[in-house]
Amino acid sequence: MKTDVVIIGAGAAGLMCAIEASKRGRKVLVIESSEKAGKKILISGGGRCNFTNLHIDSESYLSQNPHFCKSALARYTQWDFIALMDKHDLGWSEKTLGQLFCNDKAPAVLNMLLTECVIHDVQIGLNTTVESIEHQNQYVVKTIKGTYQAESLVIATGGPSIPKMGATDFGLQVARQFGLKCISFIPALVPFTFHQYDIDKYFKDLSGLSLDAIVSCNGVSFREMLLITHRGLSGPAILQISSYWRKKDALMINLLPDLDATEFLLSMQQKRGKAELKTILAEFFPKRLAERLADTLLNKVLASMPLGQIKKNDLKAFGFVLNNWVLQPSGTEGMRTAEVCLGGVSTDELSSKTMESNKQKSLYFIGETVDVTGWLGGYNFQWAWSSGWSAGQVV
Ligand code: FDA
Repeated sequence: MKTDVVIIGAGAAGLMCAIEASKRGRKVLVIESSEKAGKKILISGGGRCNFTNLHIDSESYLSQNPHFCKSALARYTQWDFIALMDKHDLGWSEKTLGQLFCNDKAPAVLNMLLTECVIHDVQIGLNTTVESIEHQNQYVVKTIKGTYQAESLVIATGGPSIPKMGATDFGLQVARQFGLKCISFIPALVPFTFHQYDIDKYFKDLSGLSLDAIVSCNGVSFREMLLITHRGLSGPAILQISSYWRKKDALMINLLPDLDATEFLLSMQQKRGKAELKTILAEFFPKRLAERLADTLLNKVLASMPLGQIKKNDLKAFGFVLNNWVLQPSGTEGMRTAEVCLGGVSTDELSSKTMESNKQKSLYFIGETVDVTGWLGGYNFQWAWSSGWSAGQVV
């Protein structure tokens, strides 16, 4: 079968690209290996799809070329996607830090995109596995359901996080086939695991407790919630910093971000010398966590003494640790639970305006397949919309 454009991958980026290309009168076929389009949209944002962020900025993206994402993000902005939501009467709300969620839940966002596909006559072939891709005068895509020829080929197959959903590094395989440089995918926005020794010492029986903290690594810091899990640490602050963490790096956690803990403890020693340290800490942390911090970061004997009887130097050391707790993760939960991946097709190989390969004419890469990874908070979908839209103008 002949068509103008074949897009491989019916996720966020592929659907946006298909809609835009078909609006220009191009005949578009989207090939999808799953039984359903947009599966990651459906599970996103805890089922409510954090579809963009009010504060989209290139600073919130990681890439070997931090400038690459600027053009697409400027050409199709968060306001453009909000306008699309408004056109379809889909309500949205800001949760925190500019994160916009769909009031009608994630399936409504996917339905909106699929409705646009129907309006503009985009063909979507589900359950279709690609067997080979060749380029003669045109791209020839051989699948289990037939062979398709197209002038333009767009790779929108995302990254390999959550493999049980069928996610793979197919995009990199295609890029390598055409001689393009790639950066191997590694998990990002992913919880940390710890050695059993640290879990038993710090986190055992505290799973589910959360607190507001600043987490830092490699010169980058995030202030958001941190969540204790049975395997280690998760929560937004941890997911964010995981994108900057590399094996063997330590994390620095400020457990009392609004206080100089040393000054505070010394002043409490003056004002409330009879109170136990644990009682004071329980005003800031859940009680069980307050006890654990005092027992492990100071010591059990001192933790149960009245503040007035603890030596100033011990209090100073404890206060310092509360603001600068150094922890060494053993690793991350890996692709199994990562929300996205770092790495992808090197941006050196692509036009930042159109996403077309510089070497291979009419071959495009969009979305997570490209070496552009956003922070948690709607940044990754905005990259998918913006890069998909940009390619959609020219394919
Ligand atoms: P995406 O993965 O969406 O789509 C790729 C498509 O290609 C899939 O449909 C896949 O089945 C298909 N495919 C793969 N290989 C193929 C092959 N060989 N042949 C044919 N088809 C193939 N981001 C955000 O901004 N806000 C949020 O709330 C969340 N929440 C979230 C939760 C969870 C649990 C996860 C895992 C991820 C998020 N994300 C997110 C990240 C977001 O889902 C991700 O960045 C985008 O879906 C990327 O869009 P793409 O279109 O590039 O890939």
